[in-house]
Amino acid sequence: MKRDEQLEAVKQYAQEKLGQDKTGHAMDHLERVARMAQRLAVDEGIDPFLPVVGAYLHDTIDEKLVASVDQAKEELADFLHSVDFSAAEVTDLLDVLGNISFARTLEDKPVKLSLLGQLIRDADWLDAIGALGISRAIYYGGAHHEKLYDPAIKPRQHMSRAEYRNLADETIINHFSEKLLHLEEMMSTPSAKKIAAHRQQVMLDFLAEFHAEWDAEK
Ligand code: ADP
Ligand code: NI
Repeated sequence: MKRDEQLEAVKQYAQEKLGQDKTGHAMDHLERVARMAQRLAVDEGIDPFLPVVGAYLHDTIDEKLVASVDQAKEELADFLHSVDFSAAEVTDLLDVLGNISFARTLEDKPVKLSLLGQLIRDADWLDAIGALGISRAIYYGGAHHEKLYDPAIKPRQHMSRAEYRNLADETIINHFSEKLLHLEEMMSTPSAKKIAAHRQQVMLDFLAEFHAEWDAEK
């Protein structure tokens, strides 16, 4: 199979798995991450093919989106073999996709990612910050019935992975200091760091404005 045919098959697979998602991980997210992975790969001087493929597939084995991660991994490996990805490519992709989520970084021993993994993770995280990040946090928070903001609920610090997934006392505004504002310094590639610096400022400006309006100061 030619590369463009493989990529078409990958997009279709992602569409089948996540096309119906209503928590901000649907096709539009995957397409933005794929565009950004392409851009970062070119900036870093590596072949964009696998980064783009990984971007489309990165949420198809995510613990919060699938019933069984092991089963999802097996299904993904079978699919990749069936559309002629080499054994090495399948191993590289699965290694990366199991380890890129923010939740993984909350574990005691974060895994060191390959350059492929760093590119895909940076592209995914860039979609969680800036104007897009603000919109996605509100969308996700709404889908999970989070409060918008409550000054009595303090942001959590040094969360474990289980605490990160506990949304009982979560507010959308707290999610910024609990996660989104930390992503800039966690970017791996120089090109992603540059883009993140701009998007960080967009979030800081938004939060300053939000609090000023909340307090009727503006
Ligand atoms: P990861 O896959 O890296 O662990 P998530 O799937 O938790 O990341 O996050 C996906 C998107 O949903 C991100 O844009 C993130 O900011 C947003 N999100 C995750 N948790 C919350 C939350 N508690 N409140 C608001 N938005 C959230
Ligand atoms: Ni994602």
